[in-house]
Amino acid sequence: MCGITGYIGDHKTTDVLIDGLRRLEYRGYDSCGVAVVDAKNELYLRRVSGRVDALDELVAQDPAKGANVGVGHTRWATHGAPSEDNAHPHTDCSGRVVVVHNGIIENYLDLKEKLLASGHKFKSETDTEVIAHLMEEKLKALHVQEKAMRADMLEPVFFEAFRKTVGDLKGSFALSMVWASCPAMVLTARMHSPLVVGLGKGENFIASDVSAFLKYTKRVIFLNDGEMAAVKKDGIDFYTFQGKKVSKEAVTIQWDSTMAEKGGYKHFMLKEIHEQSEAVENTLRGRLLPLGGDVLKAETGLAAAAMKGFSNIQFIACGTAYHAGLVGRGLFENFGLRASADIASEFTDRAKLMAKDTLVIAISQSGETADTLFAVREARSAGAKVLAITNTVGSTLTREADYVLQTHCGPEIGVASTKAFLGQLAAIYLVAGHFAAARGVLSATDARRYAEDLLKMPRLIEETLELEKDIAKVAEAFSHSEHFLFISRHINFPIALEGALKIKEISYVHAEGYAAGEMKHGPIAIIYKGMPLLAVAPSGRALELMAGNIEEAKARGADVVAIVDAVSRKTVKASRYITLPQAGELFTPMLTVIPLQIFAYYVALAKKCDIDKPRNLAKSVTVR
Ligand code: G6P
Repeated sequence: MCGITGYIGDHKTTDVLIDGLRRLEYRGYDSCGVAVVDAKNELYLRRVSGRVDALDELVAQDPAKGANVGVGHTRWATHGAPSEDNAHPHTDCSGRVVVVHNGIIENYLDLKEKLLASGHKFKSETDTEVIAHLMEEKLKALHVQEKAMRADMLEPVFFEAFRKTVGDLKGSFALSMVWASCPAMVLTARMHSPLVVGLGKGENFIASDVSAFLKYTKRVIFLNDGEMAAVKKDGIDFYTFQGKKVSKEAVTIQWDSTMAEKGGYKHFMLKEIHEQSEAVENTLRGRLLPLGGDVLKAETGLAAAAMKGFSNIQFIACGTAYHAGLVGRGLFENFGLRASADIASEFTDRAKLMAKDTLVIAISQSGETADTLFAVREARSAGAKVLAITNTVGSTLTREADYVLQTHCGPEIGVASTKAFLGQLAAIYLVAGHFAAARGVLSATDARRYAEDLLKMPRLIEETLELEKDIAKVAEAFSHSEHFLFISRHINFPIALEGALKIKEISYVHAEGYAAGEMKHGPIAIIYKGMPLLAVAPSGRALELMAGNIEEAKARGADVVAIVDAVSRKTVKASRYITLPQAGELFTPMLTVIPLQIFAYYVALAKKCDIDKPRNLAKSVTVR
C-alpha cells in the first residue's frame, strides 16, 4: 500500500513532505522517510522504523539546509520487514538517485539478479531498491558527464533514463524520483497505483492522494496508468511511458483540509462515527425523488430504462464495503431482484460468468483497492456493466467503471471504516429504490413510503448517536474479554459480520460474526459461561427466530447484549439492552451498526489500543 509525497518549491521542503505523510499515514505506518536535495546539491536522507512523528523529531534535531525539492514515503511492508533499512526512500550505489514507491515490482528478482551481477550493492530487502539501481545503470548507459554539465542540461538525461527505467518495470507502481545532480525537477510515474499532482504557484506537489497537499492547493491532476510527469517549480509536463507528450485537465477538489482534522475528538474514528448522519444526508441529497425517475442519469450515467435491462445484480467489494454489499444483496432480493455479493479477491472464476444483463456494483471507499479493481476489470471483459460506489473523486475505480455514484462522506481517516459504510449503505438504498421503482416492483404508494423512510434515517442516526454514553458503559463492562460473538439474521446478518470486524480491527480480540440460525451447526460449541454475545435483534420478520436463537445461546452461558428497538425489546430477553429508535425494517442496518462501532471503539479505548492506526492494517489496500 504505502503513501508517497513529492514537492518542489520555496516552502520548507521537509515540512511539506512530512505534513503530507502524516495525512497519508492511513495508507501504511510501519516506517517512513524523506529525502531532499540541500543547498550544496547533496542528498539529505532520514528514515525511521515507526511513525511520522518520530521522523519529524529526527528531522528537527538536524534539519536540512536550503532544500527545495524532495520526496517522502510512509510504508506498509510487503517485501522486507518493517525496519529502517527497508524504509523508503531508497538510493542507488552513488547515493544521488533516490526513489519512493507504492506498489509491487513483480520482476524485481530478475532485475536484482542482473544488477547484482553488474556489481550493484543492495542495502535493503525491498523490491523498490532495484528502481534506484536500474536508474543508475540507465544514467551510466547515457554516458553522462555529470560534473562537467550544468544542472539544467541534465534534465533531458534525467528524463530519458527515468523513462527507460520505468519501461523495464513490471507490476504496480506509483513512484517519484529525485536526482541530486538535477534538483530542478522531480519525476513521477504511475501504473496500477494511485498518483496525483497538485498545482501551486511557484511550487508543485506529488502524492498518492490529494489529502496530502489540500492545505496548499485544491487544483489537481490525476495521472492515468502508463503516464509520467516531469514536475518543476513553474510547471508540470505529462508524457506517456513512450515519451509522447499528453495534455491533461486540472480538476478542483471540493474537500477542504480541515475536514481531515480531528475537530476536538480524541480519535478520527469517533469523529467519523459522529459524522454519519451527515454522510447519509449528503449522499442522499437531490438523488432520491422521484424514485424510479431519471434523477441518477445525469450524474452517474445510469438511466431508469437501463435499470430495466439488468436481470442480475452482483456486488463486489472487500472488508467493510463487502458487508455493505451483503446488505445490498438482501435489499435487492427483498424486491424480488436477483442479487449476489462476493468478496472481490474470491471473485476470479465467477467474474468470467458475468454477462451483459448483469450490473456489477463495485463498492470501495478509496476506489483503489487492488482486488476490487481487478474484479471489475474481469467482470467488464466478460461483458458486464459496472456501477462504482466510491467516496473518492478521481480514483481509479471511477475511471474504470461504466457508471459512478459518489458517496459524499468527506475524507475518512480512521483505518476502521465507519461513516464510509453508512455512505455506502445510503447509496445502495438509493440505487435499490430506483431499481425497484423503475421496474414496477414498488407501487407509487410503496415508493413514496420507501423514500420517506429513507429520508428519516439521518435524524434517526442522530438519535442513535445520543446513546454513546450508555454503549460506552456496556463496552467497559466487557473490555477484559478476549472473545466476542455477534449474531443476527436476514438484512442485519451483515451487521453481525461488521460488528465482529470492527472489534477485531481495533481491539485485536477474537470475534466471530455469525448468522444466528447457523450457530447451532458448530459455533455454539465455543460459548462458555459469561461469553459476551451481541445480538442484533430489531423489529421485523426475523425477530421471533432471533429471540429463540438468543435463548439457545443464553442456555449455554452467553452474556447477551441485545441491540433492539422499543418494540422488539418486549420479545427479546437479555442481560443488557441497547434500545434504538424505531426504523422501517429494511432500514434498520443503518442504525444497528452504530452501537457496534461505538462498542468496538470503547473496548479498544479501554485496552489502550492505537484506534486510528491499528497494527498490521492499512486503510487503502493497493496490493492483491
Ligand atoms: C481495508 C480497510 C477497510 C476497508 C477495506 C476496503 O481493509 O482497512 O476498512 O473496508 O480495505 O477498502 P475500500 O477502500 O475498497 O472500501
